[in-house]
Amino acid sequence: MPAELSPIDRAKYVAARRAIGFVEDGMRVGLGTGSTAAWMVKCLGEVVREDGLMVTCVATSTRTAELAQQVGLTVKTLEDVRWLDVTIDGTDEFDPKLNLIKGGGGALLREKIVATASDQMIVIADRSKQVDRLGAFPLPVEIVPFGWKTTQALIEEMLSNVEVMGRSAKLRMDGTEPFRSDQGNLILDLHLRRISNPAQLSLVLNQIPGVVENGLFLDVCDIVVIGNSDGTVELRDINSGTVEHERVDLLDGDNIFVDIVD
Ligand code: A5P
Repeated sequence: MPAELSPIDRAKYVAARRAIGFVEDGMRVGLGTGSTAAWMVKCLGEVVREDGLMVTCVATSTRTAELAQQVGLTVKTLEDVRWLDVTIDGTDEFDPKLNLIKGGGGALLREKIVATASDQMIVIADRSKQVDRLGAFPLPVEIVPFGWKTTQALIEEMLSNVEVMGRSAKLRMDGTEPFRSDQGNLILDLHLRRISNPAQLSLVLNQIPGVVENGLFLDVCDIVVIGNSDGTVELRDINSGTVEHERVDLLDGDNIFVDIVD
């Protein structure tokens, strides 16, 4: 592993590298979005190019689709593929039950559709994403642009009736313009600090007109692969209840480091 990688990138890389071990020949694979998922896409591309692994991929964002095509992966639409064997994605937070907050990169809607269409969801993360309780990371909520200020007000009003510690819903910006998702929608980031009942919150959020989807991924993730900067990983499987520790074999000459961009 090259010395120039930061500790956090080494951790993301080893998690991604280990997660690729779950991909088998002929599988249909969902590709996540974000910096950790970008490592995974590069790793998968390398295995496809060098070992001849045959996989069909569905991307959760335009930028992941572009990266996947650059590294030689076959990318199809979910309409074509319909159902996936496995999705590998990053996360913004995961709790002890492997419930997640996702959407820091703004791709939560496609990520949730793709993860839900998969037999198995594997999350890759460095240890900073691990929390006892969800909510320190602002919860992204995708909303339609029409009447967005009314949707924002309805969300803030709803938040006064649920057990959370913060109540502001801020429009996500991209420079001076509102951020737009791949669907052309807006994102509100809910600063809640602590979410006592994620299932209830998810339900009530999605009942508000104008809300398309929220970033709580509950009972979706099967396995989390936590990478450490020393090249070790921890694998937690929520279904079997097992926790395993492994060392990931890395090659110094690994050409994945030559042109990584994200
Ligand atoms: C993208 O919308 C998100 O859900 C990402 O999966 C999440 O933000 C993790 O991104 P990083 O791997 O860049 O931290």
